[in-house]
Amino acid sequence: MLSNEDNIRITRVSRGTPMGDVMRRYWQPAALSSELPEPDGAPVRVRLLGEDLIAFRDTNGKVGLVEAYCPHRRAPMFYGRNEDCGLRCVYHGWKFDAEGNCVDLPTEPASSKMKDHIKIGAYPTFEKADIVWAYLGPQENMPPPPDYEWMRAPATHRWVTKTYEECNWLQALEGGLDTAHSSYLHREKLWPGAELRMRDGAPRLEVEKSDFGYSYISHRNSGADGTYVRVYQYVMPYQQMRGGVTKLKERWEVPTLDGHLWVPIDDAQTWSYNFAWGIDHNHPLPRDHMEKIDTTAGRGPDDLIPGTFKPKRNLANDYLIDRQRQKTVSFTGITGLNTQDFALQESMGTQDDGPICDRTQEHLGSSDKAIIAMRNLLLEATREVAAGKQPKGVDPKSHSHIRPFDTLVPPNADWRKEMEYDLRPKW
Ligand code: FES
Ligand SMILES: [Fe+2]
Repeated sequence: MLSNEDNIRITRVSRGTPMGDVMRRYWQPAALSSELPEPDGAPVRVRLLGEDLIAFRDTNGKVGLVEAYCPHRRAPMFYGRNEDCGLRCVYHGWKFDAEGNCVDLPTEPASSKMKDHIKIGAYPTFEKADIVWAYLGPQENMPPPPDYEWMRAPATHRWVTKTYEECNWLQALEGGLDTAHSSYLHREKLWPGAELRMRDGAPRLEVEKSDFGYSYISHRNSGADGTYVRVYQYVMPYQQMRGGVTKLKERWEVPTLDGHLWVPIDDAQTWSYNFAWGIDHNHPLPRDHMEKIDTTAGRGPDDLIPGTFKPKRNLANDYLIDRQRQKTVSFTGITGLNTQDFALQESMGTQDDGPICDRTQEHLGSSDKAIIAMRNLLLEATREVAAGKQPKGVDPKSHSHIRPFDTLVPPNADWRKEMEYDLRPKW
């Protein structure tokens, strides 16, 4: 459990809060590149770490990320004209470039110098791996761009989507670092590999801290097959990369690894960025295969409300739980692996706390070791940043060399030796 003070400290992300200051030391996914498909196209609303912003792709293809309100009289920039290398407010025509400079101020006389002093708040961006990344922190602390293996994989070997989740980001991240729940919540007769986790519902966990966060290793007895070892990587502040049981070598349809980034929209809403990457250079990821995986997760093309990233099965309709299927087919009666996660995570808050879990009331056990370690790292980061230091995982050198994996290790074999080669990035 956490004290109420620490629970607030670790979950709130607005500017000026301890965790908000930590978050602002990392590059953040602000949008999918595909949300801004063309130069001078429609601007897009972005809410990130509790800040309302507008993203637009200018005439040269550069993405600007500016405050949502015009510095003149606070009109919404969303309705602005994206034209000729800038976004023009349609109230009185003031225009700003991607860096936030005022490049036209037509309501003042031509001789006026006012334009030189007016700016709209703007954040640096760059694009890589199908994502527009933004940096919302102090200029003097801006790190080089992140460099995960999945970001380096070529487009043919990469798959990135996002899903809306209606709860605080930490609840979502905790689900991602909780291997034990997959033996229960996701138990069903429908998908391959699940039985490997059913065989042992009380995994032994190891947590190895490192410069980026930690590696988290679960061991499950698998009888004569040996031990099923699954290595996760937790990368600060909110990323999980995991070895997935369906990717066991002998079961591979398409050799992929995957993971999520749980990006805080604000204290009560989260973007789950879902990524997968092909690790066999000769084996690109077929689109139909990846859409099938997304559909299994409950985030396929037909699972979302059209024009949004919000699942059709959601809190408002109890995720269309089917009590008959709960008796016969699956543990939950809810369709979609991620939908099952969302169903639990989105309803953890008490009424007073809204969608934030009251961690003063919980009772943690040995299977929660990784969650405890993660919280400690984040709380430590709030103190480090308050003391003027950079938190872990910001430096790309800390995380560029890692990869998750899982496999069956023969009885009595050393998993480190068995997995040494597979845990090294090849992109
Ligand atoms: S409010 Fe935007 S130009 Fe006046
Ligand atoms: Fe899950």
